[in-house]
Amino acid sequence: MSTIEFKGLVKKYRDVTAVDDLWAEAKPGRITGFLGPNGAGKSTALRCLLGLANPTSGESLIGGRPYSGIAHPLQEVGAVLDSSGFNGSLTARQNLKIICAASGIDYKRINEVLELVELGNVKGKRTKGFSLGMRQRLSLAVALLGDPQVMVLDEPANGLDPLGIVWLRKFLRDLADQGRTILVSSHQLAEMQHTVDDVIIINHGKLVVKGTIAEVTKGKSLEEAFMNLVVGA
Ligand SMILES: Nc1ncnc2c1ncn2[C@@H]1O[C@H](COP(=O)(O)OP(=O)(O)OP(=O)(O)O)[C@@H](O)[C@H]1O
Ligand SMILES: [Mg+2]
Repeated sequence: MSTIEFKGLVKKYRDVTAVDDLWAEAKPGRITGFLGPNGAGKSTALRCLLGLANPTSGESLIGGRPYSGIAHPLQEVGAVLDSSGFNGSLTARQNLKIICAASGIDYKRINEVLELVELGNVKGKRTKGFSLGMRQRLSLAVALLGDPQVMVLDEPANGLDPLGIVWLRKFLRDLADQGRTILVSSHQLAEMQHTVDDVIIINHGKLVVKGTIAEVTKGKSLEEAFMNLVVGA
C-alpha cells in the first residue's frame, strides 16, 4: 500500500542528467538502501520523490500518488533530507512544537519521538549546541512526528559515531518490522550491507542494479559487487 515507486524518473540540470530513467521501488516492511557514489543522483531522486524538485520526465509515487497529491504529508511520509534546518536559539522541544502546530500534530507526540531517538535528556537544550549526530537524531524525530508509514532518509548516518550507526541500524529495523517502508540513501556501501534488505544502486543517474541484498551481492561484499558491476559494465 505504501510502496515507493520511481517510474522512468529523469531529472536534468542544464548539461547534467542527475537522474537518468530510474525505475525502482521500495516496499513496506523492508529497508531499501538507495546507494551510489557521491554525485550519483541519490539526493536529486529523493528530492523529486518529496516534491522538492520537478522531474524533467517520468514520475515518482508513494502509495500510487505523487507527493503533491498526499493530503497530510507529515502523517504519511517522514523525511530526513538534511539536519541544518533547526532554529538554533530554540530548544529541541520548541523546534518540534512549531512543526506540530503547522501540521496539526498533537504536542504529546513530541516527548514520544524525542524518547525514540534518545534525545529525551536534552529536549530542553537549545539546538545550536547540538552536535551533528544530535541534529541527525532530531531530524529523525521530526520525520517520526506524524507516525508515518513511509520514511525517506537521505544519508541519515552522516555524523553518527560507530555506536550511533549501530543504534540507527536497530532503529530502522524496528520501523521496518512495524510494516513501514524505509528508503535510506548512503554512499557508504560497506556500512549499508548490514542495514538493508533490498538495494537500489545507481551511478551517474542510472540504475546499476536492484534486488535483495543476497541477489545483488551473491556472497560477496556490496563494495565488491558494485565494483564488478560498474567496472564490468
Ligand atoms: N540544483 C542543482 N543544480 C545543478 N546541478 C545539480 C543540482 N543538484 C544536483 N546537481 C548535480 O546532479 C548530480 C547528482 O547530484 P546529487 O546531489 O543528487 O548526488 P548524490 O548521489 O546525492 O551525491 P552525494 O553522495 O554526494 O550526496 C551531480 O552531478 C550534481 O552536481
Ligand atoms: Mg546526496
